[in-house]
Amino acid sequence: MKKITVSAPGKLMLLGEHAVVHNHHCLVTAVNKRMKLSLEENAKSSLIVQANEVGIDHYEKNIQTVGKGDIPKQVAFIEQAFNLFIETYKVEKGVKITTHPEFSSKFGFGSSSAVTVCVLKALTEFHSINIDNRTLFDLAYKVVLKVQGKGSGFDIAAAVYGGTLLFYTAGKIIEPILSDPLPLVVGYSGIKADTVTLIKKVSALSNQYSDVVESTYESIDKLVMQAKDALIKNDWSTFGQLMNMNQGYLELLGVSTGKLSSLIYAAREAGAIGAKLSGAGGGDCMIAIGSVQTLKNINTAITNAGGEVIPVEASAPGVTIE
Ligand code: MEV
Repeated sequence: MKKITVSAPGKLMLLGEHAVVHNHHCLVTAVNKRMKLSLEENAKSSLIVQANEVGIDHYEKNIQTVGKGDIPKQVAFIEQAFNLFIETYKVEKGVKITTHPEFSSKFGFGSSSAVTVCVLKALTEFHSINIDNRTLFDLAYKVVLKVQGKGSGFDIAAAVYGGTLLFYTAGKIIEPILSDPLPLVVGYSGIKADTVTLIKKVSALSNQYSDVVESTYESIDKLVMQAKDALIKNDWSTFGQLMNMNQGYLELLGVSTGKLSSLIYAAREAGAIGAKLSGAGGGDCMIAIGSVQTLKNINTAITNAGGEVIPVEASAPGVTIE
């Protein structure tokens, strides 16, 4: 029986979150924690999903009703990706999809975008359809917009292309950035953030103080572009300072929290060159960079401040057929 296995990396936002939703740049890196997914033939004319990590043992939907009616949120990205695929490529074969993530969805590593990219890539492989990265990005981004309504698509780009990317809203720019390995520490705050809620919170602030928020987005964009140059030169000192400044703007936008700030300050006091929240804010993870000599102290400081250090490597490869 035909069985396809694919994997796609999770991501970490390096700089530029929130501004990237509103026509600006960000820097994102793919991490070596991957979403793995297998897709096999299913003799029935249905989509079957098994995703034990989110409590889905057996979910089944007839092809005729896929994408319609009630869709549990744990399978929404998979079902909508399958639906868009069968509509786009006019195929009607039933499949069974099983997910095997290497990371918990609570970290904010982009499990929804990684799973969406995996489903589309596995389906094209299964049906022997050639798909380039741009088409894969465009399809997966449509799915994300359909399910969650908002988002820049940076997480989809990381899952498709891998590496470290300069990204502009909706993938108008997706540019690989080469550097030495980032000396990165990641600390989980213990709180799961809801991206859409935080995007709305920033939009509400923008409605009230549009000039201030717009100029903040522009300032964030400027520091992202400088950080890109620093990254290419492996100039961690400049990169770290720009991370710290970006954190200041995220405070202004109201998306940091006491817990994130305490992990960020603990990292800085332990010698981090730069530390900031990563992603939507409100919880999820913070990131820090430091010299090799300080990394151990930064790890300990984050743990002592109540964070969970998650060992990751940056610039992981994009979606791959295993
Ligand atoms: C969320 O991880 C990052 C945001 O910029 C949303 C997005 O870019 O889709 C807040």
